[in-house]
Amino acid sequence: MALTPLDHFIAQAAAHSRELRDPADCVLALAPLMFDLIEHAGSFLQPRHFSSSPLAYTRNLIYDAPDASLSLYSIVWLPGQWTPVHDHGSWGVVGVVEGVLEERSYVRLSPDRGADHDIELARGGTILLRHGAVTSFVPNPDHIHITGVPLEHPRAVSLHLYGRMMSSFNVYDVEARTRRRIQVAHNES
Ligand SMILES: [Fe+2]
Repeated sequence: MALTPLDHFIAQAAAHSRELRDPADCVLALAPLMFDLIEHAGSFLQPRHFSSSPLAYTRNLIYDAPDASLSLYSIVWLPGQWTPVHDHGSWGVVGVVEGVLEERSYVRLSPDRGADHDIELARGGTILLRHGAVTSFVPNPDHIHITGVPLEHPRAVSLHLYGRMMSSFNVYDVEARTRRRIQVAHNES
């Protein structure tokens, strides 16, 4: 029997992430696969993958690898919902299924010596991603950003593939110039 588009994507993503040890090579190989997967989102996204909350953006797990080396989520962003300033400590590939997702980057001005204090960040550019768009990032140096949907815009839905279970990430306090690791929740598949 032929693989479904989601099965095909997972199989390819797992193979590439195993073979390509450099995260930059990995996202280079996976971005076109995400680009194709978006066009098939209707074939595998279930109503539960569109779960949302008035309290915060909602992460719905679609797939997690048995060895925790990959995870795929659908994230639902209601108007005005944003992440904190964060990085993932992992590579990631993001594709937009619905609406317009905005990503605003931060640039690290102080050298990264691994400390969680004295981190100087400057606001960088912004990118607007509509249906069909794909973006990606790699760690070291970390991609620091906020992602969300402005209040005056409609809901957005996006697919997020990471090179690990994304159960925690680094959150920055720009004013205090600090960083800390927080746990982040998701809905099970
Ligand atoms: Fe992010």
